[in-house]
Amino acid sequence: MYEAAGACEDVSSDFADAVRAGLSQPQKIIPARYFYDEAGSILFESITRLPEYYPTRTETAILTEHAGAIAALVGPGRAVIEYGSGSSAKTPLLLTPLQAAAYVPVDISGEFLGQSAAALGALFPALPILPVVADFTQRFRLPAGVAGLPRLGFFPGSTLGNLAPMAAIDLLRGFAALLGPGSWLVIGLDLAPGSGKSVATLEAAYDDAAGVTAAFNLNQLTRINRELGGTVRIADFAHRAVWNAALGRIEMHLVAVQDTAFTAAGETFSLVAGETIHTENSYKWTLPESRLMARASGWVPTTAWTDSDQRFAVHLWQHDAGAMQP
Ligand code: AVJ
Repeated sequence: MYEAAGACEDVSSDFADAVRAGLSQPQKIIPARYFYDEAGSILFESITRLPEYYPTRTETAILTEHAGAIAALVGPGRAVIEYGSGSSAKTPLLLTPLQAAAYVPVDISGEFLGQSAAALGALFPALPILPVVADFTQRFRLPAGVAGLPRLGFFPGSTLGNLAPMAAIDLLRGFAALLGPGSWLVIGLDLAPGSGKSVATLEAAYDDAAGVTAAFNLNQLTRINRELGGTVRIADFAHRAVWNAALGRIEMHLVAVQDTAFTAAGETFSLVAGETIHTENSYKWTLPESRLMARASGWVPTTAWTDSDQRFAVHLWQHDAGAMQP
């Protein structure tokens, strides 16, 4: 028997392949999923506490205020499936009013998952917690323990923002298929700049004064040096975050501040001054765009709650039974 594809992937050879392929393109890229090694995960946790990085605290405030309303709409006794649960920091806000029947945290990091499941178990001793180690962008099975339970997906943090529109819709469609008829989805999506939020506010969230986001971005190069025998001169690169209005996304890049060359994963790469490595997209949506995305992916948008500054939105979507036609 062969392992299913990806089930037993060697993470660093996967990183090597991604770096070789990504740095060989005309516009060099490093996929954003490689941000989260141990150092990167710690840096990301610091980002969520930065004064400029409004998404985490704004979403937490919205959930704190409206979790009761969400619970009233969806009813008690559901299995809550959280995609990319990480530290499960926002989960208790929802689990308590929801009177959940089970909690299924899904995360790619088994170690993180074990720790946060244990911490949550201490808070909710009677709640069955059924962690799944999986990349939620790939197909995975729900644990047998949720069979027959009505379901609610939880996808906070505007994590969807890393995906381009078509990939985002594919993922959301997969959620609808997995969660099934009668399910709901609570999804946190960062709002596009507009009446409430300026482009400056948005860009500052990705280029903080303390330089934590810069360190997070540059950590990709440190990782190349450590894991792929790289010779990157980190000082030859600078962090850049810009709002791309045409494509509705924040882009993060590593900009070469002078001509530079290095080897990594057995190959040589060079950049001229001003050339960039594109490291992340973080899409932002207006409320109508979010509703359209729901409709396009097998969900019916029901309610959205925002903060008073119109920075962030938490949406409640209902599985679209009508989307399943004979
Ligand atoms: C985890 C993808 C939601 O896009 O805001 C934060 C990642 N990158 N600062 C985001 C991130 C730089 C974050 N997401």
